[in-house]
Amino acid sequence: MITLLPGDGIGPEVTTAAHRILQEVASRYGHAFEFSKQLIGGAAIDETGRPLPEATIVSCERSDAVFLGAVGGPKWSDPNATVRPEQGLLGLRSRLGVYANLRPVKVLDALNGTSPLKAEIIQGVDLVVVRELTGGIYFGEKTRDETSASDLCTYHTVEIERIVRVAARLAATRRGKLCSIDKANVLETSRLWRDVTNRLMRDEFPDIELETLLVDAAAMHLLSRPRDFDVIVTENMFGDILTDEASMLAGSLGMLPSASLGESALGIYEPIHGSAPDIAGKGLANPCGALASAAMLLRHSLGLDAEAAAIEAAIDAAIVAGARTADIACDDDAVLSTSDMTDRIIAAID
Ligand code: IPM
Ligand code: MN
Repeated sequence: MITLLPGDGIGPEVTTAAHRILQEVASRYGHAFEFSKQLIGGAAIDETGRPLPEATIVSCERSDAVFLGAVGGPKWSDPNATVRPEQGLLGLRSRLGVYANLRPVKVLDALNGTSPLKAEIIQGVDLVVVRELTGGIYFGEKTRDETSASDLCTYHTVEIERIVRVAARLAATRRGKLCSIDKANVLETSRLWRDVTNRLMRDEFPDIELETLLVDAAAMHLLSRPRDFDVIVTENMFGDILTDEASMLAGSLGMLPSASLGESALGIYEPIHGSAPDIAGKGLANPCGALASAAMLLRHSLGLDAEAAAIEAAIDAAIVAGARTADIACDDDAVLSTSDMTDRIIAAID
């Protein structure tokens, strides 16, 4: 079973796109996927008062995979609110133990002109950010009084070891390069991160080339020499920020997928974009990140590699053939709606 969590803003539109392509793949390849749609985020707060209802947790825990659209929006953004849509997503990640968030960034030649960066810098970029997803400052104790606030950032050796192993194993299947990003000149958690990473890589992955960068420098290198990166591993908040930055290499935040994995096959799959309330309900959202996330779902949770590759190839083929949503359109491109773009990609499946 696959649990669908449409969430807020453009979440429902891109979830519909993902649902459609999964049904298409099921019928073409002779699979029977069962779907269960559940509430999360602001939509769940409106219905139940809570961002992560028990029924959602139960459905996700019984599933083979979870697909999530997006959560959040101005309606639930009152700084004094005690329940927030984001708590639903953070709670689910923690509950399912999906500590490894894979965010691949691949620049398609056909979209070279779409990025604000020069074509010669981004051509051929192919990297994966492995973001630690269930620790760090996102999950530490928070305090707030009249005149001060604090967010505690904690990492344990085991949390660092397991995420670095995921990243190093991935690098071994790719170009054999790992870049670990931290802020070890200032943060104690980063100094632990660096020590643990250096030791583990030396002991367990001597053949992987290890580079270490401070996060501020890494933010610059991502723009000046993005092609040099193969696999990047970093802590939760740095990974969140750097992947939004990296999405500009691919032309649009709407292009990028993600997979959140733990020790079992159960994973959460979501485009990295947010709920984009400004364009919600208008059919303007780019479904590519969601459809590529559906491909990752097939590969990582269901073991359906050929089906996953077919979706990825269809996205590339549709884009090569000129299919464009507004975010990746150039001056005289015809602009497709979310559902028309999805039609074009479905039609391009071999
Ligand atoms: C993401 C999002 C989330 C995060 C928010 C919605 C909690 O920005 O998946 O990147 O910060 O992890
Ligand atoms: Mn983010």
